[in-house]
Amino acid sequence: MGGKKVIIISSSPRRGGNSDILCDEFQKGAQEAGHDVEKIFLKDTKINYCSGCGFCNTNNYTACSQKDDMNEILENIIKADVIVMATPVYFYTMCGQMKTFIDRWCARYTHITSLINRSNRD
Ligand SMILES: Cc1cc2nc3c(=O)[nH]c(=O)nc-3n(C[C@H](O)[C@H](O)[C@H](O)COP(=O)(O)O)c2cc1C
Repeated sequence: MGGKKVIIISSSPRRGGNSDILCDEFQKGAQEAGHDVEKIFLKDTKINYCSGCGFCNTNNYTACSQKDDMNEILENIIKADVIVMATPVYFYTMCGQMKTFIDRWCARYTHITSLINRSNRD
């Protein structure tokens, strides 16, 4: 069996901070195990807030009205077998960077939920 395609999302603004170290260690282990790993440090990307415009809804959750880095990242997420998401705890929940990132999944909502449902079945 070939290696899996793994995507790691590191959302802390602190490069080399605690959760980013965990991402790096995960990446190292997965690569050593023969998997194809891409790590994305969210602070290096341009991801706007979801504007709630409803454009993706009218297009059956397949396209976002905004043109920033999120479109390419979503395409890579859809191709991935494994998605790793790391966040520091900020006021009992995920950090704002991770929430902003997740809100933008809306544009591929139908596709991503079908992938999640499939992996829950496997
Ligand atoms: C704005 C902010 C809010 C935080 N809220 C919590 C919290 O609710 N609970 C907690 O245990 N730690 C909290 N922390 C501490 C961080 O979770 C902790 O320092 C964490 O290791 C940071 O992760 P990082 O090194 O990956 O950036 C908070 C830190 C910041 C900056």
